[in-house]
Amino acid sequence: MSVAPEWILAFSGYDPADERRREALCTTGNGYVATRGAWAGSVAGDHHYPGTYLAGYYNRLTDRVDEVGVENESLVNLPDWLPLVVAVDDGNWLTPDNSEVLEYDLELDVRRGVATRRFRLRAGDGREVRGIERRFTSMADPHIAGQTLAVTVVGWSGRLRIGSAVRGNITNSGVERYRKLAARHLTDLSPLIADGNLLVTATTSQSRHRITVGTRTVASHNGSVRPDWSTSTDGTSVYAELTVDVTAGDVVTVEKVAAIHGSRDVGISEPQLAAQLALGNAPCFRDLLEAHVLAWSQLWRRFELALEESHDGALAALRLNNFHLLQSVSPHSIDADAGVPARGLHGEAYRGHVFWDELFVFPVLTLRTPELTRALLRYRHRRLPAARLAARQEGFPGAMYPWQSGSDGREESPRLHLNPLSGHWTEDATFRQRHVGLAVAYSMWQYVETTGDVDFLSDHGAEVIIEVARFFAHLAEYDAARDRYVIKGVVGPDEFHTSYPDRPGPGIDNNAYTNVMAVWLFGMAARALDRLPAWRRIELVESLGLRQEERNHWDELTRRMYVPFHDGVISQFEGYEQLAELDWPRYRTTYGDIRRLDRILEAEGHDVSSYQVSKQADVLMLLYLLPRRDLYSSMERLGYPLSAALIRRTVKYYLARTCHGSSLSAVVHAWGLAAFDPDRALAFLEQALHSDAGDAPHTGTTAEGIHLAAMAGSADLIQRCFTGLTTSNDVLRFGPRWPAKLGTLRMALRYRGHRLVAEVSSTAVTVTVDPGPGLAIAVRCYGHTRLLKPGDAHTWTAPG
Ligand code: BGC
Repeated sequence: MSVAPEWILAFSGYDPADERRREALCTTGNGYVATRGAWAGSVAGDHHYPGTYLAGYYNRLTDRVDEVGVENESLVNLPDWLPLVVAVDDGNWLTPDNSEVLEYDLELDVRRGVATRRFRLRAGDGREVRGIERRFTSMADPHIAGQTLAVTVVGWSGRLRIGSAVRGNITNSGVERYRKLAARHLTDLSPLIADGNLLVTATTSQSRHRITVGTRTVASHNGSVRPDWSTSTDGTSVYAELTVDVTAGDVVTVEKVAAIHGSRDVGISEPQLAAQLALGNAPCFRDLLEAHVLAWSQLWRRFELALEESHDGALAALRLNNFHLLQSVSPHSIDADAGVPARGLHGEAYRGHVFWDELFVFPVLTLRTPELTRALLRYRHRRLPAARLAARQEGFPGAMYPWQSGSDGREESPRLHLNPLSGHWTEDATFRQRHVGLAVAYSMWQYVETTGDVDFLSDHGAEVIIEVARFFAHLAEYDAARDRYVIKGVVGPDEFHTSYPDRPGPGIDNNAYTNVMAVWLFGMAARALDRLPAWRRIELVESLGLRQEERNHWDELTRRMYVPFHDGVISQFEGYEQLAELDWPRYRTTYGDIRRLDRILEAEGHDVSSYQVSKQADVLMLLYLLPRRDLYSSMERLGYPLSAALIRRTVKYYLARTCHGSSLSAVVHAWGLAAFDPDRALAFLEQALHSDAGDAPHTGTTAEGIHLAAMAGSADLIQRCFTGLTTSNDVLRFGPRWPAKLGTLRMALRYRGHRLVAEVSSTAVTVTVDPGPGLAIAVRCYGHTRLLKPGDAHTWTAPG
């Protein structure tokens, strides 16, 4: 595999064991729907996993495990529109698994959003065909996808058969760990052949979403149209078949257009009718493709983030990552009422759930498509009632957002985890990651800071911020011995520590990340209220019953929250330093890849909770989220003055104890190191950039879905970390520590209604504002602020 320069991700040769990872990486999607890049016509098995997912289409199934009902909500794999296959005479449909593979290349054109497979296969009887299959999922019309297959007959005469289908007999079986659990989400399958088109309508068994997937095919033989398809159905799927008498060198091409609609769509009557109308009205493949490519080119203009190609494929990786980001969430997601799925719409890992990963995604979106961030934050606001209920059930006021969620905002985290290394089911207490609410509130505030969208704050954001603050204010208990407030029994972002080795009951105490971010939130909740127009503040205070004493208590918490330290570093949580040290060299030598030390240790009969081992060092997340001066001033107010030396020691301490079991870890470490060890920061940037495309071909987890936060985080490292870009108090600031090795960055940004281009190098920063209407914006760099009007440009030169 190589990420070729420019815009192409290319794989050459057929490697069945790597095919599923390639499928994930060659997914085509548009934020509304995505389809894995599986061989057209393959069925779920060891080497292939066709999957099509619609944003926000979840369904619940129940299993009985040890006589107890266990419910799981999953993003549903939908009817498969891909099958487009070829056979010689009466032989089987040719696949790379049942024939001799003479050529096989898979390529993703990231600029145009087109995936292409080229193959030459020899059937059992020695006859060869050459084929090119091409597909896209339209960025212009979110309900449309297109596919073509051109088959050339290599040196024989006889009958060539072409098959097309929409397969409805689909389950969610993409993740081996879940295979023992219920997987059949689609019911009431209703295949239909209408006007020569193939359609399958299905209903999700519990959530009762109806989905129709339909296709229209047009075939031609040496340029002449062949309409004589025969069609059939077996009760779950619909099939069409065409037989063509061919001679050597003949070319048969098929164009297939798919239309996908669901009952959550806006602006339709019902899915089947909508899909039929779409198929009836869609233009030909070429026109659809043209519109799709235009839509991508417009998106790329907004997301221009060009790096001089000086740093080991960094530019191509960056584009690939942004490409998958935009296939997972795009302007087409705005009406979907769906969140940011941690693994994209690219597979079934984590059952398509939404975690806190949006924290890494929003900074990239808000600076280019703020309306998309707004819509994704609205998804969270709509689930505020569920978060309130969750808090109430635990005896707290305010809102407790779920660690994992899907449709309606209730907690979906599994309570058992299967360790594939040992085959053991172990208790999973990661749902105690209460910090997810802090992430939701943080994102609401950041969005407002960046965009100045006070209406959003007024209508939705402030309510969420206050309710989450309320929850955390009650979670913090007064500890008289310390004369401080403490937060007990939680799990921090480092999920390896869900309990103490010698203490029954889940959770750890005083996770520094949670405590400090809660303090940040208390300050922000007060500021959010101050930012509202008086009339709205009064309304909100009334309807939330917010008392002055509560606000006083928040203020008290910003001065009296406890944060643990040891040996001159911030402790990840209270007692971290008392845990055993791991024999890192031994584990590295024995296992090589030690990213999942939790599983390795469990399989050896140990518990990772007993060791100073972090999956991702969550203390360092503070450096990612809070500008240094805000972190310093918060800690100073708490009576914990920080210093650059302490931060450095803290980064070093956790670097030595982190196994990077989460792909987010590289982003966070790069951020922590950028200020004082740029070379190591760059090494982590590289890891983040290539975390999916460079994932281990046969053993990695990309096959089950991309790691969206790491993908977006890698872009964020480039756009904000190394450029020092921040947005607060109506000023756009740059404070570059730009590594000369990265050459020059050129990036487009949208800020306060303007499109800007920023060029950043190790010696200068230039900002150019597009001409047009609008007010001037304040831009600051190297200590100098300029007001830039539309059409203005200014260069700041690095001092010294
Ligand atoms: C990470 C979490 C993340 C989740 C989904 C886990 O491995 O530890 O921080 O939210 O994956 O991406």
